[in-house]
Amino acid sequence: MPHKIIFDTDPGVDDAMALLFALKSPEIEVLGLTTVFGNSNVEATTRNALNLLDFAGRPDIPVAKGAGVPLVIPPHPTGEFVHGDDAMGNIGWHAQTNPNMHVVEQHAAQFIVEQVMSNPGQITLVPVGPLTNLALALQLEPRIAKHVKEVVMMGGSVLHAGNVSPLAEANVHNDPHAAALVFRAEWPITMAGLDVTEAVQMNAAYFDELAAGGNRFGGFIRRVVAFYQQFHVDWYGMPDGEVHTHDPSAIAYLIDPSIYVGQQWPVTVPTDGPAIGATIADRRLRFWQSPKVNCLMQVDGDRLRALYKMRIRA
Ligand code: RIB
Ligand code: CA
Repeated sequence: MPHKIIFDTDPGVDDAMALLFALKSPEIEVLGLTTVFGNSNVEATTRNALNLLDFAGRPDIPVAKGAGVPLVIPPHPTGEFVHGDDAMGNIGWHAQTNPNMHVVEQHAAQFIVEQVMSNPGQITLVPVGPLTNLALALQLEPRIAKHVKEVVMMGGSVLHAGNVSPLAEANVHNDPHAAALVFRAEWPITMAGLDVTEAVQMNAAYFDELAAGGNRFGGFIRRVVAFYQQFHVDWYGMPDGEVHTHDPSAIAYLIDPSIYVGQQWPVTVPTDGPAIGATIADRRLRFWQSPKVNCLMQVDGDRLRALYKMRIRA
C-alpha cells in the first residue's frame, strides 16, 4: 500500500525536487498539496505548487492555499535570495502556466483536518516548510493527532549548526510557535533535519546525470537548481555546484527508511531568546516527558542519490 501523503510545502527549488521525487515513486500517493509562506509569500508558493503539478501532468491533485504569516511573531523576510524572485530559480514563473487550474476553496488547515478525519490512520503529513498549517489544523481539530498515520517533516536540527541562526533551521525558525505546538502533540513525528539534509549533497555533475538524454524531469531540475547552486557557492563556499538535500530527504525516508538511522528523543522549540526556533532534543532522555520524536541522525548519501536519480529518470 503506498503512503497517502499531504505535502505541505513552500515551493521553493528543493520543494520542487521533493515533489517530483514523490510523484515518480510508486510507494507514494500524493493526495493533495497545502501551501505556506516561507521561500516566498504564500501567493507565489501557491502559484508554484499549481505550476509544478501542471508541469508534472498532475493537474488533478488538489492544492489548498494556507498560511501567509506565522502564528505569533512578525514574518521574517521570505527566501527569494535563496530560491530566486519567482522562488523557482528565476525561470520566469510570475504567473500560472495553466490558468484553468484553481486552488480548492478550503484553507490548507481545513483541508488537512477533513482529509485526516475522513481517512483515520491512513494519512501521512509531510511538511517541508514552516509548520503553521499543521499547527492551525491541530487548533481546529486536536483529534487529528490521533488519526494521522505519521508526520514526516523536513526541518530542525539536533547537533548541526543552524542555517538561519547559530542554532535554528529555517522552517522551524519561520514559525517557532507553530513548531512548538506540533512537537507537543501526541502524534508520531520523524524529523529530517540539517543533521541529515546537509550531510548529503548533490553536485553539478549529478544534475547533469539527472538531465542526460533529454530527461524531462531531470532537465527541469537542472534548470531550476542553478540559482540555488549559486546561493550555495556564495553562502557556503561549495566549489562544485553542490546543494544540500533538504526537502527530498523527507520523501526519501518515506520510500526507504533504511537509508537513515534515527534516535528517539523529546524535542522542544524555544519561542524567544537567542535559541528561538531551535529544536532542542533531550538526548539523555532524562529531563522532558514530551512525546519522543524520531530524529534522523545518520544517512547513507550514496543510496539516497542513487534512489533519487533512479526515480527522477524512470
Ligand atoms: O532549511 C531548509 C528548508 O527551508 C527547506 O524546506 C527549504 O525549502 C526552505 O523552506
Ligand atoms: Ca521547503
